[in-house]
Amino acid sequence: MRTASAEIHVYPDLPTASRALAERLVGQLHEVVGRKNRCTLVLAGGSTPQSLYDYLAAEYAETIPWEHVHIFWGDERFVPPVDASSNARMAREALLDHVPIPRKNIHPMPTDYDDPEVAARAYEEMLRGVFDGVAWPAFDLMLLGLGADGHTASLFPGSVALKESERWVAPVEVPSVEPPRRLTLTLPALNHAEQVHFLVFGAEKADAVECAQVDPPNVERCPASAVRLVHGTLTWWLDAEAASRIVKEK
Ligand code: 6PG
Repeated sequence: MRTASAEIHVYPDLPTASRALAERLVGQLHEVVGRKNRCTLVLAGGSTPQSLYDYLAAEYAETIPWEHVHIFWGDERFVPPVDASSNARMAREALLDHVPIPRKNIHPMPTDYDDPEVAARAYEEMLRGVFDGVAWPAFDLMLLGLGADGHTASLFPGSVALKESERWVAPVEVPSVEPPRRLTLTLPALNHAEQVHFLVFGAEKADAVECAQVDPPNVERCPASAVRLVHGTLTWWLDAEAASRIVKEK
């Protein structure tokens, strides 16, 4: 299925969607490494991608050229790396601790600063070293999740970070979620990626999936609708429940 801005795949359940996404991701990763000898991969947080990470660790630990893969995050909760809510901790436990990726290739968002503002600037400075001399980072592959309220990464409805037009990384404070302090890539940083994959499942996300397809985007109400890639390809990987508002019954 296609919309004006995205390719949409629907599967019976999350494990099936995760396996299909893993296959596409691994193919794209091999192509990028073959072309550039390096692949930058942005991981999503939250709980949905855990099944994808588990599957990548179980099935592709030995076949992915991990020494050429560099790992980043789209957002991070501003908590210690050992905290149960850390996105980096989840990714390490589900994937990175189980594959032969050099530690130097793993670039978590820093949460050991007192001030999230300083942490955001430090991550951005690191990124500007990776993507040298460009206005926006062109991540090769990016995974994103979707909140029931239409947020993605840590770009929440009504957030001042949604208006960011220069910074690559921003600190946010979201009182309605736990933990409230976070770091996030900004919308232009998301939108300059080459390949962006949303992995979303569950009936509670159906409304958000529908609103994320609106054209023109409604960035304040549904930040995910503003993920509109400048050059790249956007693909949604959904289970039937999450897709229930956009797939018309036959
Ligand atoms: C985070 C994520 C966030 C997540 C959505 C969906 O740090 O929470 O990056 O954007 O992808 O909130 O979360 P679930 O997968 O847990 O539903």
